[in-house]
Amino acid sequence: MSTVVAEKVDLTPTTAGPAIREGAFGNARALACRECGHEIELGPHYACSECFGPLEIAYDFPVVTREEIEAGPRNIWRYKALLPVPTDIEQSPNMEPGFTRLLKAGNLGRELGIDNLWVKDDSTNPTNSFKDRVVACALSAATEFHSKVFACPSTGNLANAVAAAGARAGIKTVVFIPSNLETPKQVNSAVFTESLVAVNGNYDDVNKLASEIAGEEEGWAFVNVNVRPYYAEGSKTLGYEIAEQLGWRLPDQIVIPVASGSQLTKVHKAFQELIKLGLVEDKPYKVFGAQAEGCSPVSAAYKTGTDAIRPVKPDTIAKSLAIGNPADGIYVLDICRQTGGAVEDITDDEVRAGIVLLARTEGIFTETAGGTTVGVLKKLVETGQLDTTLETVVINTGHGLKTLDAIAGQVGPAATIDPSYAAFRATGLA
Ligand SMILES: Cc1ncc(COP(=O)(O)O)c(C=O)c1O
Ligand SMILES: [Zn+2]
Repeated sequence: MSTVVAEKVDLTPTTAGPAIREGAFGNARALACRECGHEIELGPHYACSECFGPLEIAYDFPVVTREEIEAGPRNIWRYKALLPVPTDIEQSPNMEPGFTRLLKAGNLGRELGIDNLWVKDDSTNPTNSFKDRVVACALSAATEFHSKVFACPSTGNLANAVAAAGARAGIKTVVFIPSNLETPKQVNSAVFTESLVAVNGNYDDVNKLASEIAGEEEGWAFVNVNVRPYYAEGSKTLGYEIAEQLGWRLPDQIVIPVASGSQLTKVHKAFQELIKLGLVEDKPYKVFGAQAEGCSPVSAAYKTGTDAIRPVKPDTIAKSLAIGNPADGIYVLDICRQTGGAVEDITDDEVRAGIVLLARTEGIFTETAGGTTVGVLKKLVETGQLDTTLETVVINTGHGLKTLDAIAGQVGPAATIDPSYAAFRATGLA
């Protein structure tokens, strides 16, 4: 990979506390650099000391069987052998997200002309987005590092998940968001924490501020900054679940929304691990990324055929996806290109239409991120980029009640009438 920006990275540990206990990270072996492969001991680090590349978790997996996994709890901890968490994780005060429904989407499939379509619906997690998965893994790491504060910069959903999980675990939380976020997303954090900080700026400004605070304040675990390697692994559980729920089989095509790009890269990592562990048959699959036009740096790079992602200033109703300088963008490009998928983007009107389409065909109310994903799915069909004869999964990552404003002007009462049968007849709705 050629285009990593080697910014000055602070490598200060997040804690000077007691040593990490034996087995704290299960079968995880080390932190490995995604760029140069250099490995370091597991600890509160996120950037390579050799080349500043991002670190991710490397494992020595034992034999893991389908039966062992199936005997586990109906949440993400059924995959604990594949995550950087201790084997006694079930006793920790986590929110237990995961094992959300995988629904056959016959109506949406017929509407779009896709023969075999599924929706993985992550809006039913404890705080109604997939972020509960990553936060559960980050909380486990923060606990092992004896962190004093559990924090994040967020486009909204992550802040909700951090604030709720921290409240339940009894750890102080401080969450940072752009000040222009939707009211329900702000309330959904503020109800759990006294320390919601609204920053006058976009997500990329908030993220920069968080990195600065992480370097200054000792013992702060910023889930997606200085404990990012542990946090990001939580998204793998989406991939594991999809495969298990399909009967231990990988889909042929999958469509995933992209903000930082972490989720997409980790679903791919999960599929690769399942193949290596012999838990699913090795077969080709295509990964597609979905963005909104008003924040589409990865899609733009895909379309122009470059490796360099040009940061943008976000301007879209899909605020949860509004990251103008995506940390994992180059890896998303690589995966989508290598697997024969694509990265596509749609307008805000198409995002709104995507929300209504999913609601009216499948009875699922998604937020703007899901509207983006469903809208991109439709565009991929219309532009011939998606094979409609292949088994396809689309991920709904968050709940529509958090972004009501986005479609408030689109849907509403068909009529407002006096309480009489005659008035009702006059509407023509009978
Ligand atoms: C609902 C929702 N979907 C998708 C994403 C994208 O996740 P990632 O940053 O891992 O690409 C986010 C990120 O905030 C989100 O809130
Ligand atoms: Zn490196």
